Amino acid sequence: MGKTVVLVYSGGLDTTVCIPLLREEYGFEHVVTVTVDVGQPREDITDAGERAKILGTEHYAVDARAEFARDYCVPAVRANADYQGYPLSTAIARPLIASKAVEIAQRLRRVDAFAHGCTGKGNDQFRIEFMLRTLMPNVPIIAPMRERNMTRSEEIEYARARGVPIHQSSEKIWSIDENLWGRSIEGGRLEDPNYAPPEEIFQWTQSPLSAPDTPHILTLTFENGIPVALDGQPMEPFALIQHLNELAGQHGVGRIDMIEDRMIGLKVRENYECPAATVLITAHRALEALVCARDELRFKAQADRAWAELAYAGLWVDPFKESLEAFINKVQERVAGTVTLRLFKGSAVVIGRQSDWALYDESLASFDDKTAFDQSEMSGAVKAHGMPARLYYQLKRKHSS
Ligand code: ARG
Repeated sequence: MGKTVVLVYSGGLDTTVCIPLLREEYGFEHVVTVTVDVGQPREDITDAGERAKILGTEHYAVDARAEFARDYCVPAVRANADYQGYPLSTAIARPLIASKAVEIAQRLRRVDAFAHGCTGKGNDQFRIEFMLRTLMPNVPIIAPMRERNMTRSEEIEYARARGVPIHQSSEKIWSIDENLWGRSIEGGRLEDPNYAPPEEIFQWTQSPLSAPDTPHILTLTFENGIPVALDGQPMEPFALIQHLNELAGQHGVGRIDMIEDRMIGLKVRENYECPAATVLITAHRALEALVCARDELRFKAQADRAWAELAYAGLWVDPFKESLEAFINKVQERVAGTVTLRLFKGSAVVIGRQSDWALYDESLASFDDKTAFDQSEMSGAVKAHGMPARLYYQLKRKHSS
């Protein structure tokens, strides 16, 4: 019996070229392709299936959308996912994609290797290999694209020569990665950081310039830091995220144009469309601001940042990540209530928040109440405020004269 390789297969140019390469150059007789649906466009999933069929692989398509929403996007909300301004859409999907490939591999009688189409410049090689290696440590991993250092035109030529089905038009101008949590567009002229993103790169969002003139007001309900309802209607995370992508996208919310530091130290120019992520994280932060103590908020910002760095690196089962989540999840017990937002021409603005756990007392904060708190009691505390700073100021004056 010939050797078997399990290829993590998106159906795009890189991974499609891997199929004949794995046969011809690496000597695998049996190529198993696994395509994991985390909310990429329908055509990507069907194209992958068709190409796999033409190329004669043993193909599996796994619908992981609901699991992605529940176990990956929701934790991202709870940690206010933010790496340098990027809500981590591509990053958090990789561990799940790899773990689904492993699930398939474990069902096969024989697996001699895993393969993936990541290049040597990006982050995905780290994320995917980490997860494959963690779950099936004894199976070697092959990265034909990285190992052979092929350029895009060499790939196209190689594919053509072997009658490998690719449609070039959609694959040549921009490099796109899409899932439920966001859409990333890079490459082509966008590689010039000074080149303004043309309107044609956006698919999920209206231009804020042509978005509706009437704002849309919506209310999100959270329980345990999890968004559970929209305008009072209970919704599962998957449906809610899908719906918010559309709704907020129509109002031009969630466009991000940034310079990002990749894991290997390269800077890259990225454009993202993340309407649902933007709305959910904005709302979640607003609720945390209402229910968390000041020091807790400050500490959580640090925990969130460390969490985002680990998630960016694809270290989904890291011990530090687990410990951070113990803290983050403890805080979420009180992140319950509603947040009202206004979507309007590219912005998602919080206009109201309410929680039974609010560390807020209207009569204490009010300018119009004198029963809850006697202001005159503050005189002593104010006098003591900044004592060392006042002393320092006197000394500085003395020494400079
Ligand atoms: N830089 C992002 C990340 O590493 C997204 C990369 C997506 N890839 C693409 N071809 N657009 O998570």
